[in-house]
Amino acid sequence: MDDEREKLPQHPSQEVDTSRRQFLRNLGVTAAIASLLSSGAILEERRAKRAQAQTSQTPPGGETTLRGTVAVTLQVNGKQHTLQLEPRVTLLDALRDHLGLTGTKRVCDRGSCGACTVLLDGKPVYSCSVLAVDAQGKKIETVESLAQGEQLHPLQQAFVEHDALMCGFCTPGFIMSLKALLDKTSQPTPQQVKEACAGNICRCGTYNRIFEAALSAVQSMRRGG
Ligand code: FES
Ligand code: FES
Repeated sequence: MDDEREKLPQHPSQEVDTSRRQFLRNLGVTAAIASLLSSGAILEERRAKRAQAQTSQTPPGGETTLRGTVAVTLQVNGKQHTLQLEPRVTLLDALRDHLGLTGTKRVCDRGSCGACTVLLDGKPVYSCSVLAVDAQGKKIETVESLAQGEQLHPLQQAFVEHDALMCGFCTPGFIMSLKALLDKTSQPTPQQVKEACAGNICRCGTYNRIFEAALSAVQSMRRGG
């Protein structure tokens, strides 16, 4: 009898239930295996990435190369200075942090505002975007070179008289850009004055007074003032 019952065909719904249960059971096992495999793969990938990052941070010559300094000789405002600097040090950092010439301002530190303008062989440059090592052998002029003792340069005097500054952070940069212009031409036009200041930004918006001051300085210099 038992044998006969075993041989009876099962109800189709039972067959479905059984196969579904089996299917789900299999699915669960498969998912667990997949999960184990994938978490193992993720861990392995992470390990590989970490190892790669560590390798790329290690310089070929070892730590000494990254921390090394080189002798850098700069000719600033007529004086020669030899400094021990890392090759990555900018001219701006060398001037401010190593020579104490803080008249040159750091504002954006990425070559877009002009506050750090100095003259390199007479040409205005953003000192935040020039490496100190690359400024060797060149004549560097900063805003500190302009006044002679208590006597202000005509540009500085004109900025004071025309109240051409508010916070003053942009001022040394504007003055050095204008100095480069006046060193080239003694009678610049208003348009040339504006063009000379094209690389300088004044966030306080004192442009009109700056241009007035520049033209006033031109007149003053022509009179020998
Ligand atoms: S600080 Fe150099 S351009 Fe702004
Ligand atoms: S005076 Fe403030 S940015 Fe020019």
